[in-house]
Formats: sequence, C-alpha cells, structure tokens
Amino acid sequence: MRLTIDAEKCQGHGRCVLACPELFDLDDDGKVLLLSDEVPEDLEEFARRAVANCPERVIIAS
Ligand code: F3S
Repeated sequence: MRLTIDAEKCQGHGRCVLACPELFDLDDDGKVLLLSDEVPEDLEEFARRAVANCPERVIIAS
C-alpha cells in the first residue's frame, strides 16, 4: 500500500496521528506530515483507519 496526502486540505484534526503515529505527524502549523509513503504490511490496517477517519479526506491510499 502507498499513501499520498493533499496537505493543503488538512485542517489539523489529528485523527490520522492517533490512528497511526508511525506514519503521520503534525508540523509546527498543525498540518499533517506523511512520514513514509510506503506502508509496511503490519501497518496497513492502521493506515486504512487513518484514511477513513480523516474528515477532510486528505489521505489517499493506493
Ligand atoms: Fe489533517 Fe485529516 Fe490528519 S485533517 S491532521 S490529515 S485527520
């Protein structure tokens, strides 16, 4: 699984970080940072949760 983000749409809800802190963080402005666009197999379920939980639909999985 690969992830991309549209950071301009991020409103800083932080649900992605709660779902998977290994893959997401917030920058100093409270916008999402993608720590790795390649998702290890053992994190795929958490990455899916992050995608599903973002109300702004910032995170796209492929
Ligand atoms: Fe931003 Fe969505 Fe995460 S709004 S901080 S990408 S939950």
